[in-house]
Amino acid sequence: MKLSQLLFSQGFGARRECEGLIVSGHVTLAGRVCDDPFHEVDPEELVFGVRGELWPYHAKALIVMNKPTGVECSQKTKHHPSVYGLLPAPLRRRDVQSIGRLDEDTTGLLLFTDDGALIHRLTSPKRHVPKVYEVGCKHPVTAEQIARLLAGVTLVDDPATVRAAAAEMTGQRDDGLYGLRLTLTDGKYHQVKRMLAAVSNRVEALHRSGFGALTLPADLAPGHWQWLVGPQLITP
Ligand code: URA
Repeated sequence: MKLSQLLFSQGFGARRECEGLIVSGHVTLAGRVCDDPFHEVDPEELVFGVRGELWPYHAKALIVMNKPTGVECSQKTKHHPSVYGLLPAPLRRRDVQSIGRLDEDTTGLLLFTDDGALIHRLTSPKRHVPKVYEVGCKHPVTAEQIARLLAGVTLVDDPATVRAAAAEMTGQRDDGLYGLRLTLTDGKYHQVKRMLAAVSNRVEALHRSGFGALTLPADLAPGHWQWLVGPQLITP
């Protein structure tokens, strides 16, 4: 693959812009400037530099973010800044999309990719991909609430019954809220909040800690992201 084509594929701008970056000496290969846009490179496992920053080549982008509160999972937001503003320009230009959405006040594991087939696979209701939520509830979580969440509850404005694949009390938390770990395999709008409302409790804090086979990396700070290699990390 030609170097200019490689930069283009990784989101560094229009073809002309990529050529411009290269001829003006802003691109390095193995630490050395390469100013020939037609230089042939083997993209596999290639790490290249652009303006001093190192980038691994990824045919398809797949990243995990620890979503902070105060950002919306939408390109055109209504009330808060967009979560896409936390991504670097090359990823935005690659048109990565979040795999599902989290509410503005929900934190935790959020995936992004430019692989449309993967988005479909992971969000299809037929696949039942598990999502794990750490819920901070306003009221103590009772055994009866757990039993109802597992048996299935009806949400306001939605006749279909939804049930949790798993639900366990995790005890009172440092913030005084009552902990509940909930695993859902479907993804309806505000589902956790609506399910807890259906059992007469209330979500005060919500964090997603797992998606498919993936657990949010413990060292990933809120607002930060990292590359994931291989969808097998996610697909259960
Ligand atoms: N359920 C909710 O209510 N909100 C989220 O952000 C995710 C799941």
